[in-house]
Amino acid sequence: MSLQDILAVAVPGSPEETLARQINFDRLPSHVAIIMDGNGRWASRRHLPRVEGHRAGIDSVRDVVESSARLGIQVLTLYAFSLENWKRPASEVSTLMSLLKRYLRLELKTLLTNNIRFRVVGRKDELAPDVRRELTIGEERTSGCTGMLFNIALNYGGRAEIVDAARRAIAAGLKPEELDEPRFGELLYTGGQPDPDLLIRTSGEMRVSNFLLWQIAYAEIWVTDTLWPDFRCRHLLEAILAYQKRDRRYGGLKEPAIAGR
Ligand code: FPP
Repeated sequence: MSLQDILAVAVPGSPEETLARQINFDRLPSHVAIIMDGNGRWASRRHLPRVEGHRAGIDSVRDVVESSARLGIQVLTLYAFSLENWKRPASEVSTLMSLLKRYLRLELKTLLTNNIRFRVVGRKDELAPDVRRELTIGEERTSGCTGMLFNIALNYGGRAEIVDAARRAIAAGLKPEELDEPRFGELLYTGGQPDPDLLIRTSGEMRVSNFLLWQIAYAEIWVTDTLWPDFRCRHLLEAILAYQKRDRRYGGLKEPAIAGR
């Protein structure tokens, strides 16, 4: 997973090639998290029903998942459906669930070919049995993959995740003095994974929308006006380049990796 893997699929002379050549592959973000927003606006600008925006958004999901794996990103998390999204019309919710099932069914082979492990983060137990079944198949079949970890945040809420972690701590009988930040982090849905270094949001909104609230404490945030269905590898590369120009200080004076040099 490297520049060569990206160049192998980039059109010579394309923006992807130019951007990829500028990336420092030794300083990639370990974990990229994306708030995929703007599907509805993409559709309404084309006088299409909102669900057509979600349908078109699947092509972006496919492109970003494969591009991230090619780049060598360790963890990619996409925010597909929040706990709050149940407030949307039932027809939109059911289209989103169908699209998700379809994506998993069609893309499982590609995930396996690319050695991508798939996981759900969120309250999976509350989803309909047919959706859960498809998700479990995806998780089980890819469980032996050792390349990129692809999390789909589904029926997910950041505050709910923190409450669920607190409940787990109580259920495990942890004493107050046994609980610190690393231990609590292990109890989150993303336990064992690095925190996101880079949080991308499409469609220009400046909000974190209850996404990975604990984990994004020190994430670099990159917002683009591009609507999710238009988002492609090129935009991901732009985000990574912007990230690599940031000065990460974690509240201190220098990036820990280079402090003391
Ligand atoms: C936000 O756009 C997008 C969503 C709520 C759903 C995102 C889901 C997908 C792209 C499809 C399924 C995902 C996977 C991972 C297979 P919006 O509808 O809020 O847009 P708007 O703000 O323009 O109305």
